[in-house]
Amino acid sequence: MRIGVLASGGGTNLQSIIDACESGRLSAEMALVISNNSSAGALERARKAGISSLHISGVTYPDSSSLDRAILNALTESGVDLVALAGYMKKLGSMTLHAYRNKVLNIHPALLPDFGGQGMYGMAVHRAVLASGVTVTGPTVHLVNEKYDEGAILAQSEVPVLHDDTAQSLQSRVLEVEHRIYPETIENLNRGIIAVYEGHMDTIIRPLRVRRDFEAAAKVVRSAFRASAVNYPSHPVFMDIDEIKRTVESGGVFFGAYRESRMIGCVAVKPSPDDVSTWHLIELTVLPENRFVGFGSLLLDHAGKAISIYGGGKISIGLMDADSMLKDWYRRRGFTEAEKKSLQHVPFDMCYMNREVK
Ligand code: GRF
Repeated sequence: MRIGVLASGGGTNLQSIIDACESGRLSAEMALVISNNSSAGALERARKAGISSLHISGVTYPDSSSLDRAILNALTESGVDLVALAGYMKKLGSMTLHAYRNKVLNIHPALLPDFGGQGMYGMAVHRAVLASGVTVTGPTVHLVNEKYDEGAILAQSEVPVLHDDTAQSLQSRVLEVEHRIYPETIENLNRGIIAVYEGHMDTIIRPLRVRRDFEAAAKVVRSAFRASAVNYPSHPVFMDIDEIKRTVESGGVFFGAYRESRMIGCVAVKPSPDDVSTWHLIELTVLPENRFVGFGSLLLDHAGKAISIYGGGKISIGLMDADSMLKDWYRRRGFTEAEKKSLQHVPFDMCYMNREVK
């Protein structure tokens, strides 16, 4: 993957991407840095790292469509596959956005959709966070579309707001996390841990990391299992956020599937405590109104791919033995019955089905 970065300022996020490429944490190459500001620290950082850099601005291209074309030409001529905005203070033109649809990322220093939009940049963001009284903030990596800060979220990370925080202290703690999550998110896209499924109405599947997403996942699972809840009080319908946190803390990953910023399904994978090559698949759920169009298979395929990336060889799922329709669903997707069990804390017999990771 070849990355092009657009930056207007100091370029510390650009630096974090350069460093990650150099250390191998990010298996990508820096192809080009563009700045609208000829004295940007970002351009200096590019020169120091031996990366091609260009100053392209409204001064060099006074009309907006030739500016747009110049940026697009520069990116394509350098063979850029993915564009990362890093403190870029201008809006990208529609030609560039169209050519790089779902391939332009930005990092914002707050938990979008809160504290975003016009005028919300730099210190104004952190001042607004402090004034609002929220106790948690943190950066967001998102796709860029025509509207400010409204593209799909790809990753977020929480940073606590402390009693004695000033906008400056908050900014520096958030910035530190930005430098970690921006390259990490690009690498996750590269590997397929985060994916934009254009053939499935631009559904995004991504690991969940913040409380708000965990709450959304618990809600999705509860609403999907509503019917079974009546008969089975210990059914996953009662899954709560603590249970999701335990899954994540025990080395598991909770994925959410999003369409137009709404979670429509989720799935979690976690390593088996007693067999290194087996990973358990849990809470594969699609909201009732989004069923029968392939999101379940998409989540299953995504989970399988993630397990293989994490080094697992086998997927195992535990189902209600009496649920023959669900067992058939998994059978059609290559799973075979491995074992039946009665568990003390579950009021029905379980059937475990397995599949090799493809
Ligand atoms: C960062 O706070 C980023 O979230 C925002 O602009 C700032 C850029 O900082 N989009 P730097 O130039 O990367 O240091």
